[in-house]
Parts: sequence; C-alpha cells; structure tokens
Amino acid sequence: MDSTTACLDFAAIGHQDSWKNITRFVNGLRKPGQERLSDDTVKNIFAFLPPTEVFKVNVRSVTGATINGVYVETFIDPDKLDARFGRHNLAKVLEALNHVEKMGSKVATLGGFTSIVLEGNLDLLQQRRTSLTTGNTLTAAFIVKGVEEAAELVGIDLQAANLLIIGATGDIGSACATYFAGRVEKLLLCARKQLPLQELVLSLSKKQVSVHGSTNIAEFSRRADVIISVASSAGIRLPKLKSGVLICDAGYPKNLEQSLDDSLDGHLFHGGMGQVSGGFSFSPDYSSSIYEYPAPFTIHGCILEAMILAFEQRWENYSSGKGKITTEKMEEIYSLSLKHGITIAPFFDSAGCWAPLKKLYA
Ligand SMILES: NC(=O)c1ccc[n+]([C@@H]2O[C@H](COP(=O)([O-])OP(=O)(O)OC[C@H]3O[C@@H](n4cnc5c(N)ncnc54)[C@H](OP(=O)(O)O)[C@@H]3O)[C@@H](O)[C@H]2O)c1
Repeated sequence: MDSTTACLDFAAIGHQDSWKNITRFVNGLRKPGQERLSDDTVKNIFAFLPPTEVFKVNVRSVTGATINGVYVETFIDPDKLDARFGRHNLAKVLEALNHVEKMGSKVATLGGFTSIVLEGNLDLLQQRRTSLTTGNTLTAAFIVKGVEEAAELVGIDLQAANLLIIGATGDIGSACATYFAGRVEKLLLCARKQLPLQELVLSLSKKQVSVHGSTNIAEFSRRADVIISVASSAGIRLPKLKSGVLICDAGYPKNLEQSLDDSLDGHLFHGGMGQVSGGFSFSPDYSSSIYEYPAPFTIHGCILEAMILAFEQRWENYSSGKGKITTEKMEEIYSLSLKHGITIAPFFDSAGCWAPLKKLYA
C-alpha cells in the first residue's frame, strides 16, 4: 500500500455505457506514443479485463477540507447489461469490491449499473470493512432540484404541470415520484411491470395526490409537460410530445436522447449530475479522455454521494436497498452537498451546455 492508498477516503466503482466512450476511455489510458487501438480490438479485449484501479482523485471542498479517492473500472460489457448476464456482471462487481476493500477505502459507491446488478441489495455485503452506498439518494436529489431549476428557467410552472416519470418503480424513480407528489398537477408513472406500478400508484393515491400509472408510455408522453427518465433501458421511444416539453434524461445508457430526433421542440438535459466548485485533480491526469463534460468538474451524483460521506466522515451504508429513499434523506444529502460547494451541474445535453445558459456558466 503506498502513501496515497493508506489514506484512501472513498472509492467509486463504475462502468462505461457505450462503445464510443469505451474506445476513448481505453485509448486515453495508453501511454504517449503507444498505438491507438481500433474499435474492434477494444471490443475484443474489453470484457476480459479484470476490474482495475484506473486513477486516483483528490477532491477539494469549499470548507478547505480535501479527500482522496480512487476510480475502479469494472470493464462490464455495455452490450451485456441485461439480466441474462447478471451472474457474470455480479462477479465483476464483487471482484471490484474486494479490490477497493484491500486498498483500505472507507466508503465505496456503486455507480449506475453496478448497483442495479445487486438490485440495491447491499445488505448481502454489509460485513465488509468498507461502507457501501448506491449513491442514489444524491442522484435523486440532483434530479428533482435540477428539474425545479430548469422548469423555472424555461418558464414551466410545476404546480400546473403533468410530470411523467419513466422508470417510476425503480429506486431513483420512486424517490422522484414521492418528492413531486403534491408539487405538480399530475403524476404520470411508467414502467414495464404492471404489479409494482399499481402498488406505487396506490401508495401515492393514499396521500390525496393526482397520480396515474401505465405500462404504455405513448399514453402519457403526449400529455407530459415535464419528463424524468430513470429507466435502466436505452432507446425508449416517445411517440408524441408536447411543444416546449422539459426532459431530464438521467438513466445510463441514455434512455431517450438517441431516440429523439432533431425536431424535439423542447429542452433536454442530462440529469443527476453535480459540479464540484472546489475542483478536483486526477492522477494520472485523464481529464481530457475520461470524465470529459461540457462544464468543468462535473461528476455523477452517485459518485458525489461517496465524496460527501467522506468529507463528513460518515462511514455508513447511506443509500442501500430499493425504494427506501425518503425526501428527508434527499434534502439532508443535498444540503451537505451544498455545504461542500457541490451543486447541480450546468444543464447540458450531448451537444453541449444549453445555449441560453452558456453565458451564465462561462
Ligand atoms: N445520473 C447519475 O448519476 C446516475 C446515478 C445512478 C444511477 N443512474 C441511472 O439511473 C437509472 C435508474 O437507476 P435505479 O437504481 O433507480 O434502477 P432500478 O431500481 O433498476 O429501476 C429501473 C426502473 O426502470 C424501469 N424500466 C426499465 N426499462 C424500462 C422501459 N423500457 N420502459 C419503462 N420503464 C423501464 C424499471 O421497471 P420495469 O422493470 O417494470 O420496467 C424500474 O422502474 C439507471 O439507468 C442508472 O444507470 C444515474
């Protein structure tokens, strides 16, 4: 163990969500002068690579505190994210967890799919010396606060709006539904499985909230003023949309953006992202090939949750299980996040920052 890993505060375990990103990622790890690997070569070797520590990161809070972390890549194949490959992917995640535990990390977060593969069931792993979190509480908080801020910017009155949540029965989706119950005109909830959807609609209706559920997205998409998509599937098609619709696409791989054509008459942003105003530095510095976003110091909410727990020295399994995220916990982690200067990231889509906002965030 070297001097940096001896004081390792947090670890982030993650995966890449598209071959385009993976090719950039793998080539970014190659030394200067080494030949650039082709897309086909990368595809052939990628899934055989063991979970590996890729870089260390030093993060700065506006309070003056600093923490040290590490990013461990699982090398999960993005074409094999469905249930058929569950056992193989789970083995990769467990191997990555063993790795960060050996490195002495005090808390680890399971980014995106790496938590889905465990179905949020971190209880199985609770005997570990490293505390674990899915990071979903802060992700959900950044999504809802982002939607509130973006709605105000584009002139949508949420109290009079129909909000569609795609992936509403999931861990993050159900947290967003609970948060917005009573804050919007109507909640329109979507998922593929009927039974959990009915249960969610029933539990929210008890709170005198106007809520409807459907497994048919087309039924709801034409009525939605605002859409949050947090489904664990890419390429979801939205047949008809209202003019001026606000879309927060927060799932990985991106749920909606690729299937929407250029004629979208509305506003879309990648949700669940935060920005570290105190900044961070990578070692080695892969900032130009990995983790490159239109705005500086932008990171996923799930990874930021582990950083905040580390700043606060709260070595606990903060987000664990499914459907346990409360609005109170979202507010708690969000206010801790602000304390350390970590705010909602500037709104962007794959083309860059929202044009009208460029000046604001320049
Ligand atoms: N931005 C970030 O920082 C961040 C952080 C963590 C996670 N995420 C992403 O957020 C998403 C949700 O995570 P989670 O932990 O909440 O996952 P989860 O608990 O597995 O929930 C997924 C939800 O999506 C629904 N779903 C899946 N495919 C669908 C489809 N084709 N149409 C409609 N609904 C569909 C599922 O219900 P059915 O199976 O019944 O359809 C379920 O409601 C994932 O894509 C994850 O990668 C983003």
